[in-house]
Amino acid sequence: MPVIFPPWTNKLPLATAAFAAIAPVGAIVFFWYWGSPAFTDVGYQPIQPVPFSHQLHAGQLGMDCRYCHNAVERSPYAAVPPSETCMNCHKLVLKDSVKLAKVRESHETGKAVEWVRVHMLPDYAYFDHSVHLAAGVGCASCHGRVDQMKLVKQEKPLSMGWCLECHRAPEKHLRPKSEITNMEYDPVKAGYKPDEDPDRVRKVSQLAPPIHCSGCHR
Ligand code: HEC
Ligand code: HEC
Ligand code: HEC
Ligand code: HEC
Ligand code: HEC
Repeated sequence: MPVIFPPWTNKLPLATAAFAAIAPVGAIVFFWYWGSPAFTDVGYQPIQPVPFSHQLHAGQLGMDCRYCHNAVERSPYAAVPPSETCMNCHKLVLKDSVKLAKVRESHETGKAVEWVRVHMLPDYAYFDHSVHLAAGVGCASCHGRVDQMKLVKQEKPLSMGWCLECHRAPEKHLRPKSEITNMEYDPVKAGYKPDEDPDRVRKVSQLAPPIHCSGCHR
């Protein structure tokens, strides 16, 4: 008699059951870990409805970030500027450019340009721009060299681990208040000692970046 089912096949049902039990856990771990934004969101660079360039406006023309993102020091949100801000210049500069057609249209109709969001935390994580700026964290620490971007790209993971890395030791990321929007300023290269800065609004010892869960998950 030929052996159709060799003895090792007796263990097959058990092995299959064991695998079936482990596989979903493996899949969850896999997506949780590799699917977390530390691996997926970095480099996200959506096409925008208007070819607005930070490299031109913030870089070459040297405009301060706060000219357009003017709520950033007072509110949780940096906010994207309304078309009125653009029209301050563009009702004169390149006033007939096709590239600006949507901005003019928005200005006339009052309907905002539909900019595509680049950086976004999930709803369950709380974040406030104004607190970070007041503490002396610059835009570049979290957004990279925006002044060199033709099209905005996410440079940092914005993951929980990334937030905590700075919260555990914020000193080396701090800068003088006057350099908050300066993209070229590097606190380490500049040898900035926050504790010795008489102009600092708050001393490092007075800062309390949360590490406990409810600090960010409210
Ligand atoms: C002339 C106005 C203007 C200036 C100046 C400006 N921005 Fe913007 N910014 C915009 C507009 C419009 C958008 C939305 C379109 C886009 O993403 O490019 C934007 C988007 C962004 C985004 C992405 C927002 C998102 O969706 O996640 C970041 C980050 C940002 N700006 C940072 C900066 C920084 C840092 C500076 C200073 C170096 C700066 N901006 C200067 C107009 C401006
Ligand atoms: C302080 C003045 C100023 C403001 C405010 C400003 N721009 Fe500009 N923008 C310029 C200048 C100057 C140029 C370059 C003109 C040139 O190339 O001769 C330009 C060029 C552009 C171009 C390229 C157009 C083309 O035909 O090449 C676009 C698109 C643009 N801006 C969009 C915007 C948007 C959107 C906003 C508002 C978020 C804005 N700008 C705010 C001054 C400004
Ligand atoms: C400590 C890190 C950090 C700093 C510093 C920071 N940002 Fe942000 N920024 C973020 C995070 C995180 C988001 C996403 C927020 C969300 O989804 O709730 C964001 C979102 C944005 C957006 C999208 C619109 C909004 O308000 O959510 C803009 C525009 C922006 N930042 C501009 C700036 C500018 C300009 C500066 C400097 C003046 C700055 N940011 C400084 C972390 C930072
Ligand atoms: C580069 C450094 C840095 C990064 C990155 C950073 N933070 Fe902070 N954060 C700080 C500092 C410094 C403080 C302390 C501010 C104070 O005590 O006034 C702070 C305070 C806070 C607070 C408490 C203040 C408040 O708004 O209630 C929250 C919440 C917070 N951060 C959330 C986040 C989240 C979420 C991220 C990641 C998306 C993040 N932070 C990334 C430096 C950072
Ligand atoms: C400094 C702010 C901060 C603190 C403190 C913090 N978290 Fe988070 N957490 C975040 C952010 C931001 C995200 C979203 C990250 C993302 O999109 O991947 C997150 C995501 C999560 C997630 C979703 C799974 C994941 O990894 O994406 C869980 C679960 C979580 N946090 C649990 C906790 C627990 C438990 C603590 C306390 C030990 C804690 N967090 C403390 C900022 C924080």
